[in-house]
Amino acid sequence: MNHSIEDVYKFLAADLSAMEESARQMLGSVDPFVSEVVRYSFRFSGKRLRPTLLFLTARAVDSSIVSAVSEEHRRAAAAVELVHTASLIHDDILDEAKTRRHLDTVNVHWNAQVGVLAGDIILTKAIQLILENDDSYGFRRLTEACRRTCEGELRQLGTIGNFDLPIDAYFEVIAGKTAPLLECSAELGAFYSGADKETIERYRNFGRQLGLAFQIIDDVLDFSGKTDAAGKTLHTDLLNRKPTLPLLLFLQKCNESERKETIAAIQDEGFDLSSAAEIIRRTCETGAVQEAEKIGADIAEKAVNFIRNTGGNKQAIDGLITLAEFVVKRKK
Ligand code: IPE
Ligand code: IPE
Ligand code: MG
Ligand code: MG
Repeated sequence: MNHSIEDVYKFLAADLSAMEESARQMLGSVDPFVSEVVRYSFRFSGKRLRPTLLFLTARAVDSSIVSAVSEEHRRAAAAVELVHTASLIHDDILDEAKTRRHLDTVNVHWNAQVGVLAGDIILTKAIQLILENDDSYGFRRLTEACRRTCEGELRQLGTIGNFDLPIDAYFEVIAGKTAPLLECSAELGAFYSGADKETIERYRNFGRQLGLAFQIIDDVLDFSGKTDAAGKTLHTDLLNRKPTLPLLLFLQKCNESERKETIAAIQDEGFDLSSAAEIIRRTCETGAVQEAEKIGADIAEKAVNFIRNTGGNKQAIDGLITLAEFVVKRKK
C-alpha cells in the first residue's frame, strides 16, 4: 500500500523512469555546449512532484491501468517537469540563489545569461513535447499554466518590500506562481485517462489546493528549514525582502515598535544574513512559523477532502493522500 512517499515512488517507478527518459531525449542537442547546459539543469535529485501527481491522478481515475500508463500521460508528465525545471532556472536568477538540487545553480555554474536561454530552451522543448500528444487540450492547459506561473512570479516581484501586504494578496501570488502547474498536472492526468468533466474538475481542485499548501510549506522551510536537507539556498525570501506568510504573520504579532524596527531592519541597505538570522529567530520564537505551517496543513487537508471518498483506484488515491501528507511534512 502507498503509506509513505517511498512506497509512492516505488508504485510509480516504471512511469517515473519512462518520464525521465522522455524528458532526457527531448534535452539532446547537436551542440555539445547546449546539451551540457540543458542536461545539467535536469538533474536527478528533484522530487518529481508534478509527474508523481499526474501519474497518481491518471491511475486514480482509471482503474484499468494496471501496468503502464499511456504514452500521452508520459509525455504530459515530462512536459510539466520540464516547465517546472525551466521555471526554477529562471527563479534562481531572480532570487540570486546559489544552490539548487544540491548543485550550483545555472547562474552560478555559468551565469545569468546562460540561465535565461537554458530556461527558454527547456520551456520550448516542453511545449514541443506536449504538442506530440495529438490534441490541443494538453497544449492549451500547459501554456495557460506557464502564463499564470510567470504572471505570479512577476506579481511577486511587485510585492517586494511591501510588508503591509494583506494575507489575501499573498494567497493570490502563490495561487499564480505555484498552484497552476500542480493544477495542470492533476488535470492532465485525469484528462488523458478519459475522465469526465466533473472528475477533471475535482482533481484540478485537488492539485490547486495541494499547490497552495506546497508553496506555504516551501515558504516555511525558507525560514526554518536546513540547507543540507533542502538542497537549495534558503533564507532568500527574507533577504530579497519578499513578504511571505511566516513574515506577515510575525509582523501581525509584533507590537507597533517591534514592527517598525523589524521593517526598518529589512529595508536597511546593509540588511544581510546575520540581520536576517535575528528576524528568523524571532519569527520562529513567536510561533508565526508554526502558524504558517498549520495553515499549509489545513489546506492540504482540504485538498484531500476533494478526493478521499471518491471511487477509483484505491492504491492511487492512497498515494495522493500520502503525497498531500508528504507536502506538509517534508524537509526538502
Ligand atoms: C521548488 O519546487 C519551487 C517551488 C515551487 C516552491 P520543488 O520543491 O518541487 O523542486 P524540486 O523539483 O523538488 O527540485
Ligand atoms: C518559486 O518560488 C516558485 C516558482 C514558480 C518557480 P520560490 O522562489 O519560493 O522557490 P524556491 O524556494 O527558490 O525553490
Ligand atoms: Mg526561489
Ligand atoms: Mg522558496
